Amino acid sequence: MTYVEPIAHQVRLVDGTIPTAHAVQERRLSDLRGLFADREAEAALMAEDPLVYRVYDAADLPKEDGHLQFSTTVIQPGRVGDEFFMTKGHYHARADRAELYYGLSGRGMLVLQTPEGRAEALPMVAGTAAYVPPHWGHRTVNTGDEPFVFLAAYPADAGYDYGTIARDGFAGLVVAGTCGPRVVPNPRFRRDGPGT
Ligand code: PA5
Ligand code: NI
Repeated sequence: MTYVEPIAHQVRLVDGTIPTAHAVQERRLSDLRGLFADREAEAALMAEDPLVYRVYDAADLPKEDGHLQFSTTVIQPGRVGDEFFMTKGHYHARADRAELYYGLSGRGMLVLQTPEGRAEALPMVAGTAAYVPPHWGHRTVNTGDEPFVFLAAYPADAGYDYGTIARDGFAGLVVAGTCGPRVVPNPRFRRDGPGT
């Protein structure tokens, strides 16, 4: 039997960073091209190409059944038109894999959808534990005016299907309204789902 060593990483609660992270992924607006509903606002902001979010992957663990990967995501405050800064969003490549999110700071929303296009949105603040069940596409949105930070833990073999979201979009968009953030239907959403 070969044992993987137990590990512990410090997550800085002040800013969500993991100083000893194995990998840090940076996503700028150009990495999310075509995902925001207001294409004119997106094009206008593209010259600046602002940082939208970073993901700190804690450890380099085997991407195998039985292991758990964990990471933090730090989404910057900002908007493209009325739509709040958000992650790309994905289904898991192994679609039957679940995930747990835990809010660390700021405020946001976890937006989910089934492959048939049923949308759900869960508000998240520091201390919110949110469950992403198997088969639900998921994306997070910063609805506040400071960074929105959360920890994610998921089966290390879950993988990412970004292509379905890039093609179909998300059923629900999170936009700024006069009484705060609200979820509105995405007129461009295609109800095709993964594997079609
Ligand atoms: O595993 C997750 O669901 C998260 O860690 C996300 O990967 C992270 O929030 C970034 O979102 P995305 O992978 O959709 O770019
Ligand atoms: Ni995920």
